[in-house]
Amino acid sequence: MIGSSDIMSRISDEKILEIRNSVNIVDIVSEYLPLVQKGKNYFGVCPFHDDHNPSMSVTQDKQMFKCFVCGVGGNVFTFLMEYEHISFLEAVKKIADKVNIQLDIGPITKKSVSHLSKYYEMYDLSMKYYQNNLKTASGKDALKYLQDRGINEEIIKEFGIGISYKGDKLYKMLKASKHDDKGIEESGLCNYNDKGYYDVFSNRIMFPLFDIDGKVVAFSGRIYNTTDSSKYVNSKESPIFKKGQMIYNYHRVREFVRKSGQVIVVEGFMDVIALYKVGINNVVATMGTAITSEQARLIKRLSTDVILMFDGDNAGNKATVSCAEELQKVGITPKIIRLEDKLDPDDYINKYGIERLKEHIENPISLIDYKMIIYKENKNLQNSVDVSNYINEVIKELKFVNDKIVRDLVLQKLSNETGVSLNTISSIIKKEETNKIIKPELIKPSKKMNRYEKAYKGLLFYMLRYKEVIRIVDDSNVFIPNREHRLLACEITSFYEKYENINIADFTAFLGDKKELVEIVNQIFDLPLPEEYINEEIDDYIKVLNEYTVNLEQKRLEELMKESKSDIDKADIAKKIIELKKEWI
Ligand code: GTP
Ligand code: MN
Repeated sequence: MIGSSDIMSRISDEKILEIRNSVNIVDIVSEYLPLVQKGKNYFGVCPFHDDHNPSMSVTQDKQMFKCFVCGVGGNVFTFLMEYEHISFLEAVKKIADKVNIQLDIGPITKKSVSHLSKYYEMYDLSMKYYQNNLKTASGKDALKYLQDRGINEEIIKEFGIGISYKGDKLYKMLKASKHDDKGIEESGLCNYNDKGYYDVFSNRIMFPLFDIDGKVVAFSGRIYNTTDSSKYVNSKESPIFKKGQMIYNYHRVREFVRKSGQVIVVEGFMDVIALYKVGINNVVATMGTAITSEQARLIKRLSTDVILMFDGDNAGNKATVSCAEELQKVGITPKIIRLEDKLDPDDYINKYGIERLKEHIENPISLIDYKMIIYKENKNLQNSVDVSNYINEVIKELKFVNDKIVRDLVLQKLSNETGVSLNTISSIIKKEETNKIIKPELIKPSKKMNRYEKAYKGLLFYMLRYKEVIRIVDDSNVFIPNREHRLLACEITSFYEKYENINIADFTAFLGDKKELVEIVNQIFDLPLPEEYINEEIDDYIKVLNEYTVNLEQKRLEELMKESKSDIDKADIAKKIIELKKEWI
């Protein structure tokens, strides 16, 4: 009965509940975002709206999550559905896969899974092929190049590094593994010309790029013994590879970020490897491009404590600013490390050693301080126009700074640097703010619940907690005057009939993809009512609702009475009204 679609009905309710019970929601959610334990509950930054406060709670007892700001909530399946934008069935399948519960979900989904699995297979095979190449005699030069860069056997293995050769060997291998030309070409690993198929990557050191689940989905190939115009060549986009979602080292970094609480973002994956070599493991790379909002959200999933350590050159400065802005849009203000001598982290370690880099990592500067440095560059603070521009640029940045102390310090610094008085600077800010003030929106007074609404919501609140209340409500034949809530009551009853018990997380699973109902369950479950119920209260709720029903019926009868011509009929109806009241109230 879970869900209505054909595929869903192939998985039994019992199976779904078994799957839900096989995991702990705390473990699953913490794979996606850092959680901190406070008392019985866990808290994290809600990924469903822009926030930096831990407004989402995950409750172990109830196996439910809930954001107090945006209101999203539900069980472990709901979380995956919302987070990954997947269907209920896909969420169930995901958890089932994780805990190795077999699901027979029929041909439709199987087909869509295998549709991508051939690409994953091809990429996995290719990685092994490239890795193997590196062990052969002809891989000697490449191996030496890597060793000269301090990349030893262990790191080569850890990062899956290999080498590609000119020709069509990979193509032949993929063919031998029963992949067809169309698929091979779509994968981006091989291409064809008038002479036939050939391998796209040739004579490059191959760095596999992994998706967030750790599957190889692309490669980046680096030149090492030639002077090709492009230092790196990346795989083209394919059904399994989207550039705007790629963050290098993402799949490996989670546990390290959990330990240190912090994630360091660099530009190049060589920098990730260089830092890994010296034991700094909480590092991901943006792959040298401006980050997309999707990548920003991915980073936010790891931690809200983000340090940007981009190359120290001009391009790196620009990338820092643009990346920081993208992160700010998702509610993160990163800290910044500025490396001297225009170096990237890899070269920095080689030149100054790891200790000095660690000092940087321990003392990142705030984004606002960084921006002040950047804005000051190429300006002459003896020139009054430059001074004015500088002050205005910094003031614009201040709107992102909530900390009052930091704001004051920035203003003080600005005044010291420019010689413009604090008063003048403050008056510019005031003017900016008054220009910005929009008439405060009329806040609608929160709709007060009428007594009927209070009554049926109250009943549902306790029905979701106590099987006794389900029984009482069921026996009373009470009518809930709101369609969705009435449906919900029916669902609760049928869940109870099946399991003779009620448990909020299981019940939410039982609702499957009936999103409107899951939403109502969440609202109702968190109503500010006492956890314990007293019988009189339940009786009262039922009485109030019966009164509603009676009033409706009375109105109907009164209309009828008005329309009726015969006095006998009228008397009949009047009698009915009296009986109605006697019976129900
Ligand atoms: P090394 O020179 O090997 O130390 O690499 P790096 O990490 O210092 O590279 P760089 O700072 O030049 O570039 C940062 C990132 O930008 C790299 O990791 C690549 O992902 C990307 N990138 C750099 N050059 C190219 C290029 O020629 N083509 C493409 N597609 N990407 C590049
Ligand atoms: Mn480098």
